[in-house]
Amino acid sequence: MNMYDIIYKKREGHALSKEEIEFFIKGYTDGNIPDYQASALLMAIFFKKLNKNETIELTRAMMNTGDVVDLSAIQGIKVDKHSTGGVGDKTTLIAGSLAASCGVPVAKMSGRGLGFTGGTIDKMESIPGLKTTLKPEEFISLVNNVGLSVIGQTAEIAAADKKLYALRDVTATVDDISLITSSIMSKKLASGSDAIVLDVKFGNGAFMESFEDACRLGELMVGIGKAEGKNTVALITDMNQPLGYAVGNSLEVIEVIETLKGKGPEDITDLSLTLAAYMIFLGQKAVSPEEGFKKAKQALDDGSALNKLAEFIEGQGGDPEVINRYALFPQPACISKIYSQEDGFIGSIEAKIIGLASQHSGAGRATKDDNIDLSAGILLNKKVGETIQAGELLATVYGNDHRRVDKAALEAARAFHVQSSKPQVTNLVKKVIQ
Ligand code: URA
Repeated sequence: MNMYDIIYKKREGHALSKEEIEFFIKGYTDGNIPDYQASALLMAIFFKKLNKNETIELTRAMMNTGDVVDLSAIQGIKVDKHSTGGVGDKTTLIAGSLAASCGVPVAKMSGRGLGFTGGTIDKMESIPGLKTTLKPEEFISLVNNVGLSVIGQTAEIAAADKKLYALRDVTATVDDISLITSSIMSKKLASGSDAIVLDVKFGNGAFMESFEDACRLGELMVGIGKAEGKNTVALITDMNQPLGYAVGNSLEVIEVIETLKGKGPEDITDLSLTLAAYMIFLGQKAVSPEEGFKKAKQALDDGSALNKLAEFIEGQGGDPEVINRYALFPQPACISKIYSQEDGFIGSIEAKIIGLASQHSGAGRATKDDNIDLSAGILLNKKVGETIQAGELLATVYGNDHRRVDKAALEAARAFHVQSSKPQVTNLVKKVIQ
């Protein structure tokens, strides 16, 4: 078997065998297949596609390039939650706290932000003292005692993905449904949970722009999760404007806390409750998602989810006092405000532009080795559908480098579109695939 024949076969539109897929993944991970041949195959896959069987084999082959975590020492049905990536998406910490406070063990591995999308691990690191790396026994003991732990994904999980993702990123082959599916599901399946709730996003702030493509991605991920014996559900959700008002690490964690205090934005609150509802249902702590929603809402209203967040922060070495004193978060030295030029209604806020502007203010990284400013980001003052007057505040940009902050503010201003009629604002969850 050799790479030339495999590339040629896919270029001609034929299905690859399990052995050919394994040969490619193992050879590339071990460094025996060069980047130029792997790139050629990725591009052939992008144009000629993989069928469902090939995608399953690719996912399995990638999963087997690293550790498969054993969570059997944790009692109960462990439920994972994963978003395909968005702007202002801080739902993991909210839905995780809600589900854990309803008795569902959540043992989660998360990633860092890259490009215009954020990552849960960066957000968590804005909490003073909080550790995102724990020994396996600490992780398991925290989930058994508190019900929730979130740690950074180790290099040993689906090792092939790290190398392949970096290559896809520079060869314009990220946004292929089979490649995204195998990348995400190889890591999810290796992370050891029994059930998975996926938040598959579509819109201008997501990898999949169209609703139809997001549904195809959701169907494929659910199919593969189930084929591997994991109860999997995908929510197809709208990512056309940032989620909530806050974009950027410490700003988002403050919004998480506000949401768990019952004072959060409506979109974030509803989406988090719905994600938690499915986590509670898959964790068999409710007989239906509807009952799961009621339980999650109860945990929000009676403060038990907020208490769970505090226990989780303390369990991972962080200072739970941040819940009462936001001044304990990293503080920005510079701010720049964006004002509206016109009267009307906010017709749209392009999520990708806000995500990029937030990254440029210092909140995100362009390459995986960049340092980030945990205090940087953007706080929207308006959301789609709200009225605005000329001279009124649209958003504030924060950071520590005034040139970056001012430039990011100019950029972010272009994300807002004002119109004369009131746009329709609909629920974010458009479809559930199970
Ligand atoms: N997130 C991932 O982990 N992989 C992808 O391919 C896309 C989003």
